[in-house]
Amino acid sequence: MLEISDIHTYYGASYVLQGVSLTLEPSKIVGLLGRNGVGKTTLVRSIVGLTPPKRGSVRLDGQDLTNAPTHSVVKQGIGLVPQERRIFPSLTVEENLNINRRAARASQDNRWGLEEVYELFPVLRDRRGNRGNHLSGGEQQMLAIARALMGNPRYLLLDEPTEGLAPIIVRELGKIVDTLRSQGMGILLIEQQLHFVLSHADTVFIMNKGALVHESTPAELESDRDIQAKYLGV
Ligand SMILES: Nc1ncnc2c1ncn2[C@@H]1O[C@H](COP(=O)(O)OP(=O)(O)O)[C@@H](O)[C@H]1O
Ligand SMILES: [Mg+2]
Repeated sequence: MLEISDIHTYYGASYVLQGVSLTLEPSKIVGLLGRNGVGKTTLVRSIVGLTPPKRGSVRLDGQDLTNAPTHSVVKQGIGLVPQERRIFPSLTVEENLNINRRAARASQDNRWGLEEVYELFPVLRDRRGNRGNHLSGGEQQMLAIARALMGNPRYLLLDEPTEGLAPIIVRELGKIVDTLRSQGMGILLIEQQLHFVLSHADTVFIMNKGALVHESTPAELESDRDIQAKYLGV
């Protein structure tokens, strides 16, 4: 389990995360919704040590990762797909993928290599020699996920993966996250698209002003118009 307990995170004097707790488990997708600026990205940055929390803890199967440097958090098996994707524009698809190889978690079940990644994302095999800046938005998102998988994670943190993508690509992405879950991955799915979360998550949380204000099943949230209106503006 990846246990985030009572995280408090600041940017300078600005108090952003005000006591956030949630748990990721293998083969489960936790959806996290919330308007822009409520602290969703700050949460994943806190988990991987990019913006370390001032209080609270991050534990992976009991091991304390709070304040560990990002590279060692990745090595322990946590993959981040950042909101900005951060593809290297002048490197090819394959070079982008290989970059994360060195950072990979060393383990017996080291299952992700180029072959496995290309099997999951055939389009990346076709584009293996293309530079990052010659990829479509959808291809860049696939590459960002594939690159995280090369680190052989047990838990994947996806920060608004559907942002800016066409509906057909969003559906493809949905199949990918379902496949990863069925293979044992625990996933934190941060989203603005309510429908995508309702279709794919096992549990949903809503964040508002740096705190989690709602937790339910997707079905419960789907039928709760008041909560949707109050926190998601839909
Ligand atoms: N690097 C930063 N320095 C200062 N403030 C930041 C920084 N990044 C985000 N913030 C602020 O922290 C709050 C939460 O941002 P963020 O976690 O990106 O929200 P979300 O991902 O939910 O849109 C916002 O008020 C944002 O302006
Ligand atoms: Mg964000």
